[in-house]
Amino acid sequence: MLQKIVILDFGSQYTQLIARRVREVGVFSEIVPCTIDLPKLMAMNPSGIILSGGPSSVYDEHAPRLDPEILTLKRADGTKMPVLGICYGMMAMCLNEGGVVARADHREFGRARLIVDRTEDLFAGIQDSSTVWMSHGDRVTELPPDYEIIGHSENAPVAAVRSKNLSHYGVQFHPEVVHTDDGRLILENFTHRICGCSGDWSAASFIDEKIDEIRKTVGDAHVVLGLSGGVDSSVAAVLLHKAIGDQLSCVFVNNGLLRKGEWEQVQKTFRDHFHIRLKAVDACDLFLERLSGVVDPEEKRKIIGNTFVEVFDQATDDLVLELGHRPKFLAQGTLYPDVIESVSFKGPSVTIKSHHNVGGLPKDMKLEVLEPFRELFKDEVREIGRLLEIPSAILNRHPFPGPGLGIRIIGEIHKEDLDILREADAIFIDELREQDLYHEVWQAFAVLLPVRTVGVMGDERTYENVCALRAVTSVDGMTADWARLPHEFLAHVSARIVNEVRGINRIVYDIGSKPPATIEWE
Ligand code: XMP
Repeated sequence: MLQKIVILDFGSQYTQLIARRVREVGVFSEIVPCTIDLPKLMAMNPSGIILSGGPSSVYDEHAPRLDPEILTLKRADGTKMPVLGICYGMMAMCLNEGGVVARADHREFGRARLIVDRTEDLFAGIQDSSTVWMSHGDRVTELPPDYEIIGHSENAPVAAVRSKNLSHYGVQFHPEVVHTDDGRLILENFTHRICGCSGDWSAASFIDEKIDEIRKTVGDAHVVLGLSGGVDSSVAAVLLHKAIGDQLSCVFVNNGLLRKGEWEQVQKTFRDHFHIRLKAVDACDLFLERLSGVVDPEEKRKIIGNTFVEVFDQATDDLVLELGHRPKFLAQGTLYPDVIESVSFKGPSVTIKSHHNVGGLPKDMKLEVLEPFRELFKDEVREIGRLLEIPSAILNRHPFPGPGLGIRIIGEIHKEDLDILREADAIFIDELREQDLYHEVWQAFAVLLPVRTVGVMGDERTYENVCALRAVTSVDGMTADWARLPHEFLAHVSARIVNEVRGINRIVYDIGSKPPATIEWE
């Protein structure tokens, strides 16, 4: 039976990090909203529960509540359920257990020195003191009965606590962030020593379990998957193929907005190398026809998304003729952060751009959805891809938006412009790889601007388009900074593009950071 830690989300920006850190110590973890029903929670059969951080005060009007029953739960084997409260989670726990929590006048934020008072269980292996990361408003001023202090700091006399029966633990600081030096050890102490987990969860064990599960779910039915050549759908394709072989058909659509060589490369990799049943549908003309005259970015996105669905639908119908029956399942490369976003305590954030993915298919397709990675983070999917021997060029490629080059041609899209942009983009990316700069940036690409400027080439006057180069550093795409690429490098790329690509006579480099700019121009 898979051992699992369940994380109750009270709305902290770090909740996902807790889940990742727990998995890094070899224990599977899942996040659920703090409002989860107890029967549902118990059905997950947790080995332990972590209460995440949250808003600044338990006294805030809309502060999320901790169900007191959580602190009385028993595990499946009848033992007391271990609970670790982090920051807000510790406040909520102490308040529930009869302690006193005071609202601080100001937040304590930043590094602090934790003095360890008890070096067993939670702090085992930590010598005397350790640097921890604090970010909190409230503080415990009076311990609940039967609790004791296990760590303090200069500003926080009650920085860490435990119940004397050794089932409940609380830390005022955040063990999940990298600035807490022994954070990993503290979480490992909780999962291994306190919850008794063995720490044998890994990407490799995930593959075996998933393959079994996929086989059981699918039986002798057929699965169809939209393949984009991106990391998630590529790894999903190879994993499913390993599980069910020719019962998987992938559909790869050429929307005319792919990068140079991509149409050929994806077919070569998946059909020729992995021997996966691949239906490659060239729908360039249809997409370009639908996009003709459209300038608004959101409208472009909608048209590209809807047309994809239509083409995919048609491809599935064609498949029925080939197979003699309808596929039963639609596989998607949904990742855990998307799942959490839709169930999190805070709910989805405001839409700046509608980021539909290639996997964004209609609900009425009458296919059951299969999401083999819905519990995984991106780096875990990459690790699985590595174990499945998917080429690193696919696994470690920069992100590429579903609407492709369609949002990198500003304004109206013409086929000739797409050809120009493809060439310029390929030069930029080739040079980044050549000069070992590709992995120094999070994403890099060329944008074709609907601006023509005067130039001179030889003795000739030219009047051609401007091309912008964009390269950013980022962790997750939510914020980004423009990459400080060397001037010589930019000069070289610029010279190559202007010399080799007909239709561009001027290059600019984008020095906008996000915010206020976004990564893409549209
Ligand atoms: P922005 O431009 O919002 O981009 O700063 C953040 C990340 O999202 C990608 N992006 C998209 N991905 N469909 C996608 O699948 C979209 O419509 C879309 N728009 C932006 C962008 O490439 C960057 O990685």
